[in-house]
Amino acid sequence: MNNKKYTSFSNTTVELNENSLIMAIESSCDETACSIVKGGREVVANVVASQIKTHEKYGGVFPEIAAREHLEAINVVIDEAYKQANISAKDITAYAATVGPGLVGCLLVGLNAAKTLALVHDKPFIGVNHLNAHLCANYLDTELKPPFLALLVSGGHTQIIDVKSYSEQTILGETIDDAVGEAYDKVARLIGLPYPGGPKLDKMAQDGNPKAFILPQAKVDGYNFSFSGLKTAMLKLVKSFDGKELPTADLCASFQECVSKTLYKKLKSALEVSGYKQVVLAGGVAANSEIRKKVFSFTDEGYEVFAPPMKYCTDNAAMVASCAYFNTNTFDDINVEVFSRVK
Ligand code: KG4
Ligand code: ZN
Repeated sequence: MNNKKYTSFSNTTVELNENSLIMAIESSCDETACSIVKGGREVVANVVASQIKTHEKYGGVFPEIAAREHLEAINVVIDEAYKQANISAKDITAYAATVGPGLVGCLLVGLNAAKTLALVHDKPFIGVNHLNAHLCANYLDTELKPPFLALLVSGGHTQIIDVKSYSEQTILGETIDDAVGEAYDKVARLIGLPYPGGPKLDKMAQDGNPKAFILPQAKVDGYNFSFSGLKTAMLKLVKSFDGKELPTADLCASFQECVSKTLYKKLKSALEVSGYKQVVLAGGVAANSEIRKKVFSFTDEGYEVFAPPMKYCTDNAAMVASCAYFNTNTFDDINVEVFSRVK
């Protein structure tokens, strides 16, 4: 529970409570999103404008184009969120936005929109770290409370995190090279799947044999990960077909099996040492069918497993609002600036 007090531009103090309505904006990459969440858990509006159609043509996200699309969508998603919740600005307790990490030009659009709303309506502004927000997606529509162990897998990060309290967390291990989502996207491109590669590879893997190819699981110390060797192994494997038709489904299934087994093993050993009984999956790659299946298999071993529903796995603003409510490691200075990498 966040009893932290926030102040507006004119110094009006607000203390958050379970009736607080936070409007949050997320624009760190290729989704322009606005949500309103009550008491950090109850989603009363959730609007996401995806840019997939735009970036599909180029096979990836072009930062400059993404920023322009955010500009076009931002007012539309804000209006739609007010409409969905059937409330007006006077009912909002505080405005929040993702501050980083992300694409700078994209972050600026959401951050400036939220700061402007806070200034115009004289409400506090709360800046949020995108990674913390992914973790908080697990508080939406649940009763989850820390402590727990989390596996955070996204386009830019792969971490096992000891979440001791709402605001206190320690990274136990992380990738020393590629993030899981990045590896999915690169391998998808390698075998000719269109953007966005991760979900396409996941879908294709459903029709393949996970044992068709034995791929290397990197041996890295502690709870750290490495996926660049696997990526190189996939490259060599694809080249070995020498232009002949690729067994795409088998390649996808074998890659997915290797990644999900690696994640499962490290998470299992971290869980045993932690002594926690709750385990949480978070980040865009938490939408992956096989990774979900393997993490949910911990329920058979007596753990309580949480993973956000699909719509709150990939980028959304409900998780940002929840984070603004629960996590006190926020940026509540109206002059806060965006940042591209983890601080
Ligand atoms: O968390 P997210 O939306 O953005 C970041 O904060 O990075 O994660 C996006 C990543 C992309 O790499 C995307 O390919 C991956 O999540 N992803 C998936 C799936 N859905 C999204 N990867 C594998 N399987 C999926 N079903
Ligand atoms: Zn994300």
